Amino acid sequence: MTAAFNIEDLARPDLKGLQPYEAHYAPGVIRLDANENPHDFPQEARDYIMSRVGPQFFGRYPDPLARDLVSDLAAHYGLGAENLMVGNGSDEIILNIMLAFGAGRKVFIAAPTFSMYGIHARVAGAVPVEVPRGPEFEVDVEAMVRAGGREPGVMVVCNPNNPTGNATDPADIEALARSVNSLLVVDEAYIEFGGESCVPLLGKYPNLAIMRTFSKAFGLAGLRLGYLLAGPAVIRELMRIKQPFNVNSFTQLAGRSVIRFRDLFEAPIRRIVAGRDRLARRLRELPGVTVYPSVANFLLIRTNRAAYEVYRLLLDGGVLVRHLNLGERGEFLRVTVGTERENDIFIARLKTILDGPGTVRA
Ligand SMILES: Cc1ncc(COP(=O)(O)O)c(C=O)c1O
Repeated sequence: MTAAFNIEDLARPDLKGLQPYEAHYAPGVIRLDANENPHDFPQEARDYIMSRVGPQFFGRYPDPLARDLVSDLAAHYGLGAENLMVGNGSDEIILNIMLAFGAGRKVFIAAPTFSMYGIHARVAGAVPVEVPRGPEFEVDVEAMVRAGGREPGVMVVCNPNNPTGNATDPADIEALARSVNSLLVVDEAYIEFGGESCVPLLGKYPNLAIMRTFSKAFGLAGLRLGYLLAGPAVIRELMRIKQPFNVNSFTQLAGRSVIRFRDLFEAPIRRIVAGRDRLARRLRELPGVTVYPSVANFLLIRTNRAAYEVYRLLLDGGVLVRHLNLGERGEFLRVTVGTERENDIFIARLKTILDGPGTVRA
């Protein structure tokens, strides 16, 4: 007789309704959906990586502490290795934070924002509590303090915020750090494109942690590398639970090459910023399009035609953007700043779609 195996008996009941992160796969289209860097990874930095890949490179486990990479990063920030932890993308660091500090507690999230904070909180057995941002998507500091109270937990502010693109003043971050007993995680995934970093505040607040990624400005999304800057006590706790070989050897090397050739990334970053501002101006000229102010490498927009329909029609025309349902706030599109050519194609297709039948005229 076969045992009556039933996955329903086994699956965690608290994760029943959890929707996995929606990662789109649409080969052969212009990808303006994932906030990646559209420009080529610099040849010199690539050569540096390849010149260090010897015959033993793939057969050995990576350095579990990524010592060389951590030391380069620490030198870059003028911090010690005890202030740093690297991860297999900042996604992994988010999960580790939730596992180390969130399980059985509340995670206060300034929302709407990046969905992985809530997803990883739930996976770790924490309770995500969304604290609504204000009408301009600004962090509601008072509401965050009220929600967090004096309870120890985790608080997350994305700055600049994905998907809205706006920045938070470091004074607001300081006000939060001072007022709560939670670990305050500031996700600076897009800080190279605009906004003011909270790194200078690190020494002042032991409950402050700052997360960064190589996936956006530094064009390493495919290799997965993120890191956390925090006080030694926070890093020590995270080290207890991290996977031993979480960042592979190739990625460690690629991260080091980015730090070494950091200057080569400045021009593409400036190009993206200029492209963003140009794209925003051109979108604002289109009737029926609302563009939200952004200091990141993407724009949040609203159109007078149903967002999902516009998303589908853009995809049919070979351009992938992100469709977002932000609950009571409605439906939006988020478009990543691409190359100049990609931006032109996107604008042209969008214009055709909004000029077509099905658009509500103002
Ligand atoms: C705000 C924010 N944080 C973190 C990430 C994940 O970055 P990584 O590629 O380092 O996992 C993203 C990716 O889109 C993001 O938007």
